[in-house]
Amino acid sequence: MRYFESHAHYDDGRFGKDLPSVINACKEAGVEYIINAGADLSSSKKGIKLAAQYDFIYATIGVHPHSAKTLSEDSFCDLENLVKSPKVVAIGEIGLDFHYDHSPRDIQKKWFIRQMELAKACNLPAIIHSREASEETFNIVKNANLSDREGLGAGVVHCYSGSYEMAVKYAELGYFIGIAGPVTYKNAKKLVETVKKIPIERILIETDCPYLSPEPFRGKRNDSQNLKYICEKISEIKQITVEKTAEITLENGKKLFDIK
Ligand code: NI
Repeated sequence: MRYFESHAHYDDGRFGKDLPSVINACKEAGVEYIINAGADLSSSKKGIKLAAQYDFIYATIGVHPHSAKTLSEDSFCDLENLVKSPKVVAIGEIGLDFHYDHSPRDIQKKWFIRQMELAKACNLPAIIHSREASEETFNIVKNANLSDREGLGAGVVHCYSGSYEMAVKYAELGYFIGIAGPVTYKNAKKLVETVKKIPIERILIETDCPYLSPEPFRGKRNDSQNLKYICEKISEIKQITVEKTAEITLENGKKLFDIK
């Protein structure tokens, strides 16, 4: 099986000395591509380093809503300067998180909008984080009006947790829907409905590791080897083979991040 990991945080401190062995194990388990998502300036830089070290890792740069309050005009300039680094394939993860509210909401909105403008200016896709801010996130995404880059896609709503109806609205704007470990959880009714009704051509798979381990490893440190469980669950919901699920989501990932 060949998998496309569309969202991972291998720069995270929870991966220590064993990082090289984890990454090798992922490769051996069939993970052919890994997108390492930036969450602040420092993790974005670490992602760029990882991408330089491993041929199958790509980096995205961005500041997560949790860390929005750390941004200033100066640090935003630093972020802009990272765009030109090799193997930077998207801006993210960026968005709104009204569940934790680690940054004030007006600050979250301000820097989300600015980073969407950056994505548009660079013609890069955006990786969107949205938690308990469904309408507000969608409005900003819609107004940002990113290009779908002649069908490659405008971005992905990662670790999707919204309604099916909202997923359709995102798909209409050229966004993919990122499906992570929670689809394997018992209470995932709404997400299962979304997976069932959204065409597989709009779905990306992701672990969001080290967070959000799927069943049967819930609560443990996650890594891309667990894409298998997410893929199996999606194939079960959509009644297509695991091979087909892995293959189509891999093609979707290569398309969105424009990896040849
Ligand atoms: Ni993430």
